[in-house]
Amino acid sequence: MERRHVFSSTAGLAEAVCAHIAQDSAQAKGRGQRYTLALAGGATPRLLHEAMVSSQWMKTFCWDAMEFFFGDERMVPPDHRNSNYRMAYETLFSHAPIAPEHIHRIKGELSPAMDAAIDYEKQLRRLLTPLEDGFPQFDLVLLGLGADGHVASLFPDTDILNEREKWVAATYVQRLEAWRVSLTFPVLNRARKIFVLVTGESKSDIVAAVFNEASSADLPVKRLAPRGELHWFIESKAARHVAATA
Ligand code: 6PG
Repeated sequence: MERRHVFSSTAGLAEAVCAHIAQDSAQAKGRGQRYTLALAGGATPRLLHEAMVSSQWMKTFCWDAMEFFFGDERMVPPDHRNSNYRMAYETLFSHAPIAPEHIHRIKGELSPAMDAAIDYEKQLRRLLTPLEDGFPQFDLVLLGLGADGHVASLFPDTDILNEREKWVAATYVQRLEAWRVSLTFPVLNRARKIFVLVTGESKSDIVAAVFNEASSADLPVKRLAPRGELHWFIESKAARHVAATA
């Protein structure tokens, strides 16, 4: 099931995502289960994290049932300005009642990147029980969208796009001249829900390309095909020529 939600403001977009997470985490807790989230990196998630810890939403989440993971990480220490963990710590973890043992970061300080990928997969295998197809199921995977159509650190023309066995892999991104560590598509697509959050005029071209049926570009984001639900949360500035679906 795929849905497109378009919002006139980033505040409205963040509130809609918060409402989904609040409801789903409460339902998970009601079932006596954890609610596992893989956080996105980059800048977009800041607006969601800040909404989550705002006075309006902070008390609506079952924080004790929530367990936080990462979709990808840059190969830098956790206190580096480019660290996705640092961004999440500054905007979310340091403001919310989350137990440290419920936060599972990718160790970007490890070298080579392969070691960080191996370490993270070991963490995931210890914490998440694989389903019958051998892959773990996150309750929610949060993603941003790069202007080139990448999600997490799954960039165009990289081998990781075709990884079918590993849960986590290291990937060299030529354009960035940098290594990354990322969850792979089999794991992303096993999620109960995937939310792709897109804001800003700078993303309007890639959003139009993604939803333009005639576009044959091999955009990594087009490989998202969760067995569960795929929800696009798009600010109207990024949604030129794209309409919300019912
Ligand atoms: C990262 C992210 C990456 C990000 C997109 C969009 O580590 O950078 O995982 O996939 O979501 O590049 O980034 P912005 O939100 O900054 O536009």
